[in-house]
Amino acid sequence: MSGVQLKNITKKYDDLQVIHGIDLEIKEGEFCVFVGPSGCGKSTLLRMIAGLEETTGGEMFIGDRNVTTADPAERGISMVFQTYALYPHMTVEENMGFGLKMNKVPKAEIKSKVAEASRILKLDDYLSRKPKALSGGQRQRVAIGRAIVRGPEVFLFDEPLSNLDAELRVEMRVEISRLHNEIGATMIYVTHDQVEAMTLADKIVVLRDGRIEQVGSPLELYNNPDNKFVAGFIGSPGMNFLKGVVENGSVRIPALQDSMIALDVKLPASGTKVYIGVRPQDIELTSGEGDLRVDVTEELGGVSYIYLKTPTDERIVVESRGESSTAYGSNANISFTADKVVLFDLESEQRIR
Ligand SMILES: Nc1ncnc2c1ncn2[C@@H]1O[C@H](COP(=O)(O)OP(=O)(O)O)[C@@H](O)[C@H]1O
Ligand SMILES: [Mg+2]
Repeated sequence: MSGVQLKNITKKYDDLQVIHGIDLEIKEGEFCVFVGPSGCGKSTLLRMIAGLEETTGGEMFIGDRNVTTADPAERGISMVFQTYALYPHMTVEENMGFGLKMNKVPKAEIKSKVAEASRILKLDDYLSRKPKALSGGQRQRVAIGRAIVRGPEVFLFDEPLSNLDAELRVEMRVEISRLHNEIGATMIYVTHDQVEAMTLADKIVVLRDGRIEQVGSPLELYNNPDNKFVAGFIGSPGMNFLKGVVENGSVRIPALQDSMIALDVKLPASGTKVYIGVRPQDIELTSGEGDLRVDVTEELGGVSYIYLKTPTDERIVVESRGESSTAYGSNANISFTADKVVLFDLESEQRIR
């Protein structure tokens, strides 16, 4: 087992730079998730670690080996893709053992490695089936099994659950978590889904436009985002943002009848434009007629989400426990406490602390 270290990694496709100097240390045995919107460079970065894409600049280490220019086969990695890419004419057992067979590993050893992977992934009952007789989730387990039998130092996953329906996705997410607990290998997992990132990761790397926005544990990112992008990306529904202006040591919020909010941060000069951020979970609907209009109410049973529009045409989502009694078009009032508010510069979108 080994950790992975990236030093000032860059990638250009001709003149188009898609990765801009990534520095990152992934510890041995860590479950690291790269998350970010489509096109931000997650797959490119993962494929560079796998050796499937050339690295334009910087250096890359797996354990203490410099693998920047090493062949994929020399890196000690196994990769699992969104498409399972199983051989249709081979059984589950043959699919899992095929890579070892190609490497002339003795038959008995292949058999015992496949048996071990099959036990971990609960595939024992399916070993003699062909892929077409398996569900999507089972096929993806075979693909993961194929990665396990190679005994890699580092597992790489590129959106492995994206082809599965919602229910199976949750089930496989739990499986992958269990797999990591059981074999304890270093894993790097790419997804655009922040829920997957939050539930699987020891360490989340939030990427945007080929740059790291923030690195931290799920709760560090949730509780202490460095910028508006991370604050809005992590958490569901996303954090609410309202425009404000710094005035006389407080923040004036036009959307909330020019309320003045005093915050325990080092405020910039009066006149500076800012955003305040408050999570839907930290806002309460209060009784009495307000000037916020109820746009949509989503009832999920245990919780409801109430979407409000302010007189300034900004939006606020409130999460409320249990059922909600708000009706479309009615007026509402909200309250939240200042200790739940985070502040961002409007221009740079960086956190003001
Ligand atoms: N072979 C390629 N040639 C040119 N541009 C590419 C190539 N592969 C990816 N890109 C570009 O690199 C950026 C990052 O892509 P990708 O890593 O696939 O994003 P993600 O996996 O985060 O959705 C995108 O703008 C994409 O269009
Ligand atoms: Mg991708």
